[in-house]
Amino acid sequence: MGLEVKKLNLGFECEGQFNQALFNVSFSLKKGQIHALVGESGCGKTISAMSILRLLPKTARVTSGEILFEGEDLLQRKNMESVRGAKIALIPQDPMTSLNPLYTIENQLLEVIKKHQGLEDEQALDVAMRALDAVHIPPDRMKSYPHEFSGGMKQRAIIAMALSAGAQVLIADEPTTALDVTIQAQIMKLLHEIKHDTAILLITHDLALVGENADFVSVMYGGRVVESAPVREFFKNTAHPYSQGLLNSLPSCSSLEPIEGQPPTIYEEISGCRFHPRCKKRMDICSEQNPRMYKLSDEHFCACLLYN
Ligand SMILES: Nc1ncnc2c1ncn2[C@@H]1O[C@H](COP(=O)(O)OP(=O)(O)OP(=O)(O)O)[C@@H](O)[C@H]1O
Ligand SMILES: [Mg+2]
Repeated sequence: MGLEVKKLNLGFECEGQFNQALFNVSFSLKKGQIHALVGESGCGKTISAMSILRLLPKTARVTSGEILFEGEDLLQRKNMESVRGAKIALIPQDPMTSLNPLYTIENQLLEVIKKHQGLEDEQALDVAMRALDAVHIPPDRMKSYPHEFSGGMKQRAIIAMALSAGAQVLIADEPTTALDVTIQAQIMKLLHEIKHDTAILLITHDLALVGENADFVSVMYGGRVVESAPVREFFKNTAHPYSQGLLNSLPSCSSLEPIEGQPPTIYEEISGCRFHPRCKKRMDICSEQNPRMYKLSDEHFCACLLYN
């Protein structure tokens, strides 16, 4: 059981112009795995994830691709209501957008549970208590309003909602960026607790977090997946110069060396490899030819002409 994004192409309409933002993005999520999606700001992580739930801005247009889930292409589905929240849950980049400030946490949890599991009040309350317990929110805080919760508690309340809906896929978009390390550790522990029954997509900038928690990693650059591998293999044999650059810019790296320049915006046309203007290993051909994904080992792929 899982979910597969296949060759997704997506862009934005702007003043009569179409600017492509995702190029043949593919990755798959498997039950029992935390799949990390990493890359600098603006490389397309959130819009890739939001495509799965079809929660895209009005100006976005998917031009081709498939998102396969339960034998069906979600992009062709007429009604997403029964999928969102119930089967595929989201912890969004900004948690406040998914909590209603006017209702208590209890009310919001109960609504999710009744809607998705069709339970009566008493049973729903029981499920809600267990979900909050799982995210270490004491039962006496159930009657609180979102503004009475700290950032970390809000994140955990949203995870509780995702848990109580019984989702098969959980998309966590930067779930720990705004949190201190203790709460970050708690959230990651929670993801590990639920991953037996859930396929998890973890979006993050933080490669240290990936190393400690993920099973599989896909690196995105300029709207493309440029490398994908099981996490151990990725850290042992990092293949793409961009991935190597990301690792070298980690504070823990002895030869701290940030990648110079900026990732492209969707308004820039770049010929050949999208990373070549910033690449230390670029060859003449890199500005002409767009690399395909080369297979380096069983599950390790890299889009770089060094491996041609
Ligand atoms: N509504 C929109 N209209 C036009 N362009 C957009 C829109 N939303 C996103 N983009 C562009 O799409 C690209 C990918 O954006 P996305 O939000 O997926 O990045 P990200 O990898 O999640 O970045 P971050 O790490 O900052 O969250 C960016 O270049 C962004 O400017
Ligand atoms: Mg984002």
